Amino acid sequence: MLPHIAEYLAANSLSEASFPIRLHSPGRINIIGEHTDYTGGWVMPAAIDKGIEFYARRIEGSSLVLHAVDLNKSQKLPLPVTGKTGELWVDYLAGIVEQFQQMGQEVPSLEIVFGGNVPRGSGMSSSAALEGGMAFLLNEVLVAGLSRPELAQLSQRSSNEFIGVPTGIMDQFASLNGSPDGPILLNCDSLNFEPISAEVPGYSWLLVNSMVTHELGSSEYPVRVAECQEALEALQKVFPDLEKLSHASPDQLAVVINDLRPVVRKRANYVVGENIRVRQMAQALKVGNVSKAGKLLNATHAGLRDDFQVSCEEVDLLQFMAAENFRGAVAGARIMGGGFGGCTINLVRSTELNFLKAFLKNAYREAYDKTPEFYEVNIGAGTKWL
Ligand code: GLA
Repeated sequence: MLPHIAEYLAANSLSEASFPIRLHSPGRINIIGEHTDYTGGWVMPAAIDKGIEFYARRIEGSSLVLHAVDLNKSQKLPLPVTGKTGELWVDYLAGIVEQFQQMGQEVPSLEIVFGGNVPRGSGMSSSAALEGGMAFLLNEVLVAGLSRPELAQLSQRSSNEFIGVPTGIMDQFASLNGSPDGPILLNCDSLNFEPISAEVPGYSWLLVNSMVTHELGSSEYPVRVAECQEALEALQKVFPDLEKLSHASPDQLAVVINDLRPVVRKRANYVVGENIRVRQMAQALKVGNVSKAGKLLNATHAGLRDDFQVSCEEVDLLQFMAAENFRGAVAGARIMGGGFGGCTINLVRSTELNFLKAFLKNAYREAYDKTPEFYEVNIGAGTKWL
């Protein structure tokens, strides 16, 4: 049990044993395959050893009594859920309830205490951990029998329909289906996936948190989704059988490229290229080709910065200082997640980790008067009972 949850229970004279439903729902990282999930593309995420713990029990009445330990907030959510409450942390949970209601399920009264250790604003998807954990919990309580991939789909629908953000399935899928053995290579169209190894002898995966999250992120994400749709529609005029933008080959894209608005051209080029890079990365990792893996990371960063335009100057600086100024020790680096802040993911020679951290810390402080946080990636299991 996370120490701050234990403290909360003790302070409220609640015993761990009185909560028989206990689970851990992890955050996620992503090795490569960014902004490809909502166009049916390839991604390579992993569940991590940090996440959200849920402690739940049945209670009398017809409501969910929710305690968010991290926020030090409690709320009573009347059942059935009829719409948003306006409090985002409650709505992430309410949206999952509403999905089960739509399936004809009647969610019973529960008291749920939850809290976690995913660094906030780091882009490690604490919101997906919240949704996926709640879905896993209700699936058990209701004996609904949904598989983990189905729970990921349910969680994504909740994000899309209830919360109202057009995100893809990567985050919830990785949280629910991750494996401690390594990332998964996931096809977001078929939802077929296979675990792969991201271990590169002598190298470590390091996350560097820029400690910034730009508001712009939430407004630009739907714009990117729409731009990708625009590119798909142009392609479909010539290739009517093409179902998803991520299925387009570079040759197909070349046929329509001049019909696209310049900005849509850039987005489509990025997406088509990124899908190729994910599969190249899988191959590079399989044979331990570190220099190829690093080049792919750098190429993805360049694409996200220049063509997909979801980076920001703080993160660009961290990426540049690692990948260029520390070349030799850093095979490659890129911005990770939805963008506009959050972390870079770096493939670093293990013996140089401390030098790199000290170097980045000084340089980043000088440039932005901010101290970055560092996390060595520990890949963990998907959602599990405690
Ligand atoms: C966010 C979304 C994901 C995915 C990434 C970008 O994390 O929730 O679905 O689109 O951005 O790869």
